[in-house]
Amino acid sequence: MKKEIKIEKLPDLKKAREKKEHIEYFEYLVKPSEFLLNFFDGKKYYIRTYGCQANMRDSETLAGLLECLKMNKTEVVDDADLIILNTCCVRENAEDKVFGEIGALKALKNKNPNLLIVVCGCMVEQTHIVNKLLDTYKQVDLIFGTHDIYNFLNLLEQTVKENVRLVDVTSSAGDVYEISQSARDDKFKAFVNVSYGCDKFCSYCIVPYTRGRERSRRKEDILCEVNRLLEKGYLEITLLGQNVNSYGKDLYEDYDFSNLLEDVAKTGVKRLRFLTSHPWDFNDKMIDVISKYDNIMKYIHLPVQSGSDSILRSMNRRYTSKQYLDLVNKLKEKIPNLALSTDIIVGFPNESDEEFEDTIKLVKEVKYDSAFTFIYSPRVGTPAAKIKDNVTSKEKSIRFTRLVKELEKIIEEKSNAMVGKVFDVLVEGVSKKNSDVLSGYNQNNKLVNFKGDPSLIGKIVNVKIIESHTYSLIGELVSDD
Ligand code: 5AD
Ligand code: SF4
Repeated sequence: MKKEIKIEKLPDLKKAREKKEHIEYFEYLVKPSEFLLNFFDGKKYYIRTYGCQANMRDSETLAGLLECLKMNKTEVVDDADLIILNTCCVRENAEDKVFGEIGALKALKNKNPNLLIVVCGCMVEQTHIVNKLLDTYKQVDLIFGTHDIYNFLNLLEQTVKENVRLVDVTSSAGDVYEISQSARDDKFKAFVNVSYGCDKFCSYCIVPYTRGRERSRRKEDILCEVNRLLEKGYLEITLLGQNVNSYGKDLYEDYDFSNLLEDVAKTGVKRLRFLTSHPWDFNDKMIDVISKYDNIMKYIHLPVQSGSDSILRSMNRRYTSKQYLDLVNKLKEKIPNLALSTDIIVGFPNESDEEFEDTIKLVKEVKYDSAFTFIYSPRVGTPAAKIKDNVTSKEKSIRFTRLVKELEKIIEEKSNAMVGKVFDVLVEGVSKKNSDVLSGYNQNNKLVNFKGDPSLIGKIVNVKIIESHTYSLIGELVSDD
């Protein structure tokens, strides 16, 4: 039988832009109904997550909510009674992947009409995507947005009880929901949100519209989550925000990211990381804290996006290449053995050869330890998508390949320089390629593979680097103190 469509709320990108006077904080307590418990008890769920760490963290929350219904996680999509696709829309190819995946799920739904398919996350914060899902992908049962996670179980109940294809996507500047349920993906490393949304409105970026305006979590809630994770034996915490450096600006007069970072470092967590840094909000106090605490890893992800001042201006990045380089130099000077990574967009509308060369020049000067490179992808509703572009896609791919090659040379050099040095490595598991080999990351976030006993998994050990590849290192165990 064909299911009716029921629309509670449709997304509206404009609403997400509007700043709220006051952010509200909610404590969300899960009280699943008898109906949900009876219906889902013992059934299996499968979650596929696309995109960034914020999505990964949201998926852990969704999994935690489902486990309150006594559902079990499966890694085999064919075995699932409930499939969630937690989507990303930062670039078009991320969306294409999701559509491909949903298309493939049709066969499963035909085999098992009771299968429930849920699509959530950033992609469905866009009206044209929801319409496409409703019109063309009839296998999808429930669609909700990034602001509706706390409401997930109610939406699931409504979908099942009313036997409808339900759409409930809230577009808003957003509030803060504290949801303590969580089924974390990892036993040793955990992400902790410090803020949600983004206020930077880079002209190419859809995130401020899909995730709403920037809002910080209360410091007590963050520290409480960190302490609970430490009690459970977690060794590494990564503080998460679209722009961690602006943490607290919306909430406190005299407590910023440097204070939070210091407070978290003082909990005694073995390893502390943070993502993502915006150059504009990076202040000296933060640099001092990073250099002062040994448990803060010497690795900073500092997206530059472009090395050209004119492109940076059109991107609304709020800094010049000189200001960026000054910050990099200060960081390198004050934080010995610092590793830097970055994000770079190639082929922003009307980027000239000279402007692209400025990016190559900057990359050579900074000498990044790792980098994520992207070809510009127009996103409906963002200011950059309205710019008429005179650069062909062929030219963009040529530039992209050139940039990747330049970066590889630099990254290889940086990896080579690690040979002979000893690093702390948090052992995460056996290597994907060879089950006799263990793998983990060093403080600079470089993947290290080495021979060792699997009993070392979950420990921090000393490893001497004996060989380097561009994206990983090979080492030998020195001690397992
Ligand atoms: N096109 C290409 N890359 C983008 N990013 C964000 N928006 C776009 C876009 N429209 C990249 C930026 C950002 C990273 C997460 O994704 O480099 O830092
Ligand atoms: Fe997007 Fe810019 Fe915010 Fe990063 S800082 S999430 S690129 S708007």
